[in-house]
Amino acid sequence: MNRRTVLRAGGALAAAGVIAPFAPRLLAEGQPGTLLPSTAPRPPAFRVPLPVPPVLVPARTDATTDYYEITQHVTGLPILPGLQTEAWTYGGSWPGPTVASRSGRRTVVRHRNELPEPVVVHLHGGHTPADSDGYPIDLIAPMGSARYRARDVATGYRDYGYPLDQRAATLWYHDHAMGRTGPNVYRGLAGFHLVHDDEEDALSLPRGDHDLPLMITDRSFNEDGSFRYRTAGHMNGVLGDVVLVNGAPWPVHPVDRAQYRLRLLNASNARRYRLHLDPQPPGGNALVQIGSDGGLLARPVAHDAVDIAPAERFDVVVDFGRYPAGTRVRLRNGSRQEVMRFDVGGTNRADEPRIPAVLTEDRTLDPRRAVTRRTFVFRQNLNGTWTINNQEYRPGRPLARPRLGTTEIWRFVTDFHHPVHVHLDPFRVLSRDGRSPGPYDAGWKDTVDVRPAGAVEIITRFTDYPGRFMLHCHNLEHEDMAMMADFETG
Ligand code: C2O
Ligand code: CU
Ligand code: CU
Repeated sequence: MNRRTVLRAGGALAAAGVIAPFAPRLLAEGQPGTLLPSTAPRPPAFRVPLPVPPVLVPARTDATTDYYEITQHVTGLPILPGLQTEAWTYGGSWPGPTVASRSGRRTVVRHRNELPEPVVVHLHGGHTPADSDGYPIDLIAPMGSARYRARDVATGYRDYGYPLDQRAATLWYHDHAMGRTGPNVYRGLAGFHLVHDDEEDALSLPRGDHDLPLMITDRSFNEDGSFRYRTAGHMNGVLGDVVLVNGAPWPVHPVDRAQYRLRLLNASNARRYRLHLDPQPPGGNALVQIGSDGGLLARPVAHDAVDIAPAERFDVVVDFGRYPAGTRVRLRNGSRQEVMRFDVGGTNRADEPRIPAVLTEDRTLDPRRAVTRRTFVFRQNLNGTWTINNQEYRPGRPLARPRLGTTEIWRFVTDFHHPVHVHLDPFRVLSRDGRSPGPYDAGWKDTVDVRPAGAVEIITRFTDYPGRFMLHCHNLEHEDMAMMADFETG
């Protein structure tokens, strides 16, 4: 038996409940993908400043709604020294502009498509009605294009309406086109969308230029500077050899000796990271997690390192006042890979407030009230495509029909690494591999990293919006190769 056969057998047996799920150490530490090496010289580390994407200004506002406009177009970006990288961008930058919304205030984003191909926009983490959720065949055809004429195709632009009746959280928007999400996101179609609310504003958390959204990606480059991407030989996932934060390779950011809120987002197609600071401050616990995908945790959780899978967000506070002025603090991935560097300056922020011991009320869902249990098995088919419950994705064939307002327990069982994402509402992790949730499973999540031959149980309740939504692997090569399913709420 080769490794894949072993995994498949293990996953299938675990799925059938015959054996306890196992997680072979070697595989668990590996990456869910294959490196596609750059043919361009890799840029030097720590030479460029960290870009912070601009916050988008609404085109207009009225009593209930803020209206934004984003034009998607091709832009040459100076990512590598002396070269241009042709990117597909939201409004000319990568990441796209940050949209900032108030909880409960409606946001409408008009996306214009001036790219050469149809696109779909999904607000990841948004509690969004089905018609604005970015269903993969609800395409926006390019401006002026007569080629695409299906029922769900808009031509030129589409208005996405987001009620944002949800807690403050770090959301992100990205492309979700059927079978093209991997290449489209890789070329630059991703940006932050922050939701703020009064509860979070009332806490003494770092703000302004001490609140940094950090979009972490890996990419490879061709000799001419273009993004290097291909799925042939990389259907396990495309791994790049250059790590970028907010679109800049291994950047540097000067910081005061003060607290910073770092909104960590792994927007990579397939790569998982184990992020930690080097050096660690005396006493360790440098990364104080205050939030997860779905907003604030009830209480802060201190970590030396965080494991972050594609699409997950970790909201952490780092106190650079714990380092002497002049320290160069590197954010690293495991023991071998750099991510970025913070250069600690001489400015102290005197009497900084401490991170509150209680961040929000500890509400959760009660497993005794669950009315339905479902199992979703994520595995590779013999023909190489990726499936859920042995089905390759087909739009309009829901694998589940949850009733709005009822509590459900879903079990995700895997053969390989799969970061599993559920649209519409966040969930809580109930168990991992038959044990308590892991150290990175706290709070309200919308994506959970399921390890090889793993099993994760979540509890959720879908609310408000009837219609077709998605459940899928957020390894974008797996997603494009059919590891998606519809569920239909009603
Ligand atoms: Cu971030 Cu359906 O995806
Ligand atoms: Cu999503
Ligand atoms: Cu996957």
